[in-house]
Amino acid sequence: MIFNRVKPLDAILETAQQKSLERSLGWLQLTLLGIGCVIGTGIFVLTSVGAQKAGPGLMIAFGLAGLVCIVAALCYAEIAAMIPVAGSAYTYSYATVGEFLAWTVGWALIMEYAIAASAVAVGWSGYFSGTILGGLGISLPAWLSAGPLALGGAEGGLINLPALTIALLVTWLLVIGTSESAKVNAVLVAIKVTALTAFVAITLTSSEFTAGHFNPFLPAGIFGGWGSGVGAVGAAATMFFAYVGFDAVSTAAEETKDPQRNVPIGLIGSLLFCTVFYILVAAGAIGTIGGQPILDAMGLPLEAGSQELARQCALPQYAEALVCSNEPLAHVLKVLGFSWIGSAVGLAAIIALPSVILVLIFGQTRIFFVMSRDGLLPERLSKVHPKYRTPHIVTIMTGIAVAIGAAFFPVGQLADISNAGTLYAFMMVAIAVLVLRRSDPNRQRHFKVPFVWIVAPLTIVGCVLLFFNLPTAAMLFLPGWGLIGVVIYFVYSRHRSHLGQGIVTVVDDIEGREDALPIDKT
Ligand code: ALA
Repeated sequence: MIFNRVKPLDAILETAQQKSLERSLGWLQLTLLGIGCVIGTGIFVLTSVGAQKAGPGLMIAFGLAGLVCIVAALCYAEIAAMIPVAGSAYTYSYATVGEFLAWTVGWALIMEYAIAASAVAVGWSGYFSGTILGGLGISLPAWLSAGPLALGGAEGGLINLPALTIALLVTWLLVIGTSESAKVNAVLVAIKVTALTAFVAITLTSSEFTAGHFNPFLPAGIFGGWGSGVGAVGAAATMFFAYVGFDAVSTAAEETKDPQRNVPIGLIGSLLFCTVFYILVAAGAIGTIGGQPILDAMGLPLEAGSQELARQCALPQYAEALVCSNEPLAHVLKVLGFSWIGSAVGLAAIIALPSVILVLIFGQTRIFFVMSRDGLLPERLSKVHPKYRTPHIVTIMTGIAVAIGAAFFPVGQLADISNAGTLYAFMMVAIAVLVLRRSDPNRQRHFKVPFVWIVAPLTIVGCVLLFFNLPTAAMLFLPGWGLIGVVIYFVYSRHRSHLGQGIVTVVDDIEGREDALPIDKT
């Protein structure tokens, strides 16, 4: 039987109790942590990709993706408060649905976090090239500023040098053990929120804002068609990326005062806050300069990141089109004549996005670390650096993979592929919550999902709905990656699994580093 290796929950909880972190976080700190991890490339960059998929329907897309994340966040909150140890969805699955499914979740998370980090690096590169280099009058040659056209990059593109550089730089910071203080996180949140507030205030009050820009509201319909990835739901599947990151925050549940009250306020508060902001930003961008997709001969939106879209965008008539910009928020302000505020918004993205990359690469190495300490991946890869006390080998391996993704692929495709893995993990968390309610109903829960038999199934349905509205390539990537994972599991991991050998190990720190996030929460 491949489903019978379930880690005993008591062993996990015992470890968590030994750790007994101080409960010091209130709802405000949790909310700030959430916003710090969440706001990034999704809103600053993918807004143009989402508009190419759904036109003004992008606003519905943000709402729908936000809703799926809010119900998923509730499930995360219950299980994170109950099983407060490292490894997130992977550990929760190990304790509920067993080793094999936990392996698939961990394997999906490894891919999700790394590819998400690549996507944010590419997003950062768009702002760096536009705001910093553009501001200095420097224009990188096309072959250094984007991935190859065959992969959906810009005409003449070969390698995205700024994206590659930032990915390697952040990796180096992680290798030497950099973590962010809560104060730095709060400052970055303030920078991001100020930039978005300025954007919303200027665009919504602009004389260019007209209702006509919202017509047609759904140029590609609600559902664009199987595998097309367009329409409002297709765009929601992509814009889901804009909310990813809160799952990392749920791991702070055990350090929260009065978690029954503060965890849901923190998680849902940060997600609601972002949802409202994202919808307002989309309304401001589209209402002022328009956001209709560029269509093919059949009247369907051209695929975001496709060669044909890149060619169309090079035409003079699309010079100002929202859907063609790599730095859409700065672009909108510049088109409206607020050049320096546009540059300031660009600068905000340049300053704040690297911390999102940091959280994502950190999250990936954490999952990898826990899996290797369970014996499922080679343990020597998780060797801790004698001086920096970081798992430097896996961090460097991850960093190189992230840099390669960032150097050669367009942001929209990376986000879609990452989303496929995240949606799978969220679905498994919702299943784990239900399984535990049945199998272990009396165990103490510091936070209980209200109406769990509605909320958890809604999470599952929402994840499945978004997954099947991703473009075909992104949808197929997950089973392809999963297949490689299953082969590795049966060839390597199953025999070396500590649990399989009767050893129950629960890993929760990297030689004394108890941080679940690279952010010092005090
Ligand atoms: N939610 C994060 C972002 O949008 C990953 O960059």
